[in-house]
Amino acid sequence: MNILIIGSGGREYSIGLALKNRSNVDKIYFNPGNGATDMLGVNIPIKDFSELADFVVANNIELTIVGPEAPLTEGIVDVFKARGLNIFGPSKVAAQLEGSKIFMKNFLSRHNIPTAKYIETNSLEVAYKFIETLTPPIVVKADGLCGGKGVIIALSHDEAKKEAGEMLSGNAFGNAGKSIVVEEFLDGYELSVFAICDGKDYVILPAAQDHKRLLDNDEGPNTGGMGAYVPTPLVNEDIYKKLEDRVVKPTLKGMQEENMPFTGVLFMGVMVVKGEPIILEYNVRFGDPECEEIMPLLKNPLDLFYKAAIGDLANAKIEFFDKFAVGVVMASKNYPYSDSVPAEIIVDDIVHESLSENSHISYAGVSRDKDGKLYATGGRVLVCVGVGDSIKEAQQRAYMLCGQVHFAGKQCRSDIAYQALKIEG
Ligand SMILES: Nc1ncnc2c1ncn2[C@@H]1O[C@H](COP(=O)(O)OP(=O)(O)O)[C@@H](O)[C@H]1O
Ligand SMILES: [Mg+2]
Repeated sequence: MNILIIGSGGREYSIGLALKNRSNVDKIYFNPGNGATDMLGVNIPIKDFSELADFVVANNIELTIVGPEAPLTEGIVDVFKARGLNIFGPSKVAAQLEGSKIFMKNFLSRHNIPTAKYIETNSLEVAYKFIETLTPPIVVKADGLCGGKGVIIALSHDEAKKEAGEMLSGNAFGNAGKSIVVEEFLDGYELSVFAICDGKDYVILPAAQDHKRLLDNDEGPNTGGMGAYVPTPLVNEDIYKKLEDRVVKPTLKGMQEENMPFTGVLFMGVMVVKGEPIILEYNVRFGDPECEEIMPLLKNPLDLFYKAAIGDLANAKIEFFDKFAVGVVMASKNYPYSDSVPAEIIVDDIVHESLSENSHISYAGVSRDKDGKLYATGGRVLVCVGVGDSIKEAQQRAYMLCGQVHFAGKQCRSDIAYQALKIEG
């Protein structure tokens, strides 16, 4: 089977790598791909969705997998489905669960799915009034997509009002902030839980924990994610069960009832407060870097994507290796503040078999020059992934691999999975 993967990050690289290594696939295409995905398949630069659908037909591609949110909210799935093509991801209307925080919060509230108390508004007056009723910290969120920067945790009423004003005036995030959500602050720990959905059935994947802050001990600025591990011991059967009954089932049912059945990845941003899972937000695709650790644990990744895309998850055989994976992001020098000068990437030969067999790199922000040399060109450059029988072993392998990778200005956290290791010992 020929496959097309949409996107250009480490997430898409990891999906391609898993399919190539452990599923029966023929050719893999990436659109647009990055400077390293051409080691796994063929990069194609087409931008227009209809043209891309033409390419899919012409090249006998039987399945398209969409990595990032932007093409989903722009309706790529609708264009492909209208042409009778198999595509993994939600339709444009269903993708609003990520594309509009107001849509998502109102959906949760209509279906009694646990979430933080909130209001949505485009009126400063209404925002001010609600802010006064909350005790700081107070959370202010822009409605639309802001590349992970549209959420402010304000430490005082005044700060919350100021941020709400900045957003509503359009100064902070343009149109994405012209409507906002104001909500109560939830104090707990965060999990990323992914449910693969085919419109009616679902499979919940082992939960992950991301590390959003740039520096060790969760200090420094927020980033797109500096590392993650799977599965996390911070979740137990009770939490999975509650998520299933209170979140996933009512969501799939609600989306069906409202004529926008949900297909693809339902990414639950969960805050666990006193043992109760509460939904912070939905995304409609895999997290990056969580995907890079989930993929190596899947025995047959193709089954998951293909069966979900054709609406036959009930007959999918989804199995996981009984292992742990830890991924450490290596970012370029000025990340997340500004661009960095491209730097050549050198990866030492790995001589230890236990390391070469149980670790790999998922490439993200890289480009290749005409001599075939790889350069770090993006903010998050690559992810070093280690797999092991314990989180500790997986972490050690991930960091040993980091030690073999060199480029000027490289930065990474040294404590990915620290919360789990406190528990695992
Ligand atoms: N109600 C809340 N209480 C506490 N923290 C929150 C709340 N809402 C969001 N956050 C924090 O802000 C981060 C970003 O918010 P989120 O809703 O996931 O938006 P996005 O990922 O689109 O920026 C979350 O990962 C969480 O750490
Ligand atoms: Mg989020």
